[in-house]
Amino acid sequence: MPGKSKIRFKSLEFKDLEKVMEIETLSNPTPWSIGSFIDCINSSYQNIVILSDNLLVGFCISTVNFTESHLLNISIHPNYRSQGLGQLLLNESERELNKKGVSDIFLEVRNSNISAINFYKKNNYNHVGKRKNYYRSSDGREDGLIFTKHMHLSSFASISRFSIFFLRKIISFDRG
Ligand SMILES: CC(C)(COP(=O)(O)OP(=O)(O)OC[C@H]1O[C@@H](n2cnc3c(N)ncnc32)[C@H](O)[C@@H]1OP(=O)(O)O)[C@@H](O)C(=O)NCCC(=O)NCCS
Repeated sequence: MPGKSKIRFKSLEFKDLEKVMEIETLSNPTPWSIGSFIDCINSSYQNIVILSDNLLVGFCISTVNFTESHLLNISIHPNYRSQGLGQLLLNESERELNKKGVSDIFLEVRNSNISAINFYKKNNYNHVGKRKNYYRSSDGREDGLIFTKHMHLSSFASISRFSIFFLRKIISFDRG
């Protein structure tokens, strides 16, 4: 239980891949390949894992593109679900994205994934659209629901963005 266990977050590393693949295979009807996770590590994505008493029990992968992020994958090991760990992981991921200047998060979720849909709704994600037949499923295809969340930037992130804006202006002015 999170209340009794020591919870920690860190970035995904190559040594974590075996555990992450185990969780992914148990969680996703069409699991990502190990190559996809390697690509994430080698990219500028935000890849956070959650550890409970030093055991890796979940991960959250998000793209970071200036003010926007796409939450690509979040999973908690089935044995550790419904204990508040997904919530802690999402909080941490959003906090870190916000520090990087992200104000808008997008994601897709399977129409049939009721627990994840509840999870996102509870976290103030708004259902804004549908991708028809977006996912492969056991009996063909199923729709993907698109959710977004707008976050107010932390004051630090706002100042950083403001500074970058003016630096860019100064550089382009110098270049004539
Ligand atoms: C979605 C997921 C990450 C949630 O993680 P979790 O640790 O089980 O979630 P938490 O215990 O922190 O629950 C947070 C909230 O999510 C919702 N929720 C979580 N599991 C739920 C379930 N089985 N049924 C309904 N709502 C659920 C609830 O609103 C819950 O709040 P509450 O406990 O106050 O009711 C987890 O279910 C998971 O790994 N699922 C498989 C992978 C997946 O589908 N990822 C999303 C892909 S888009």
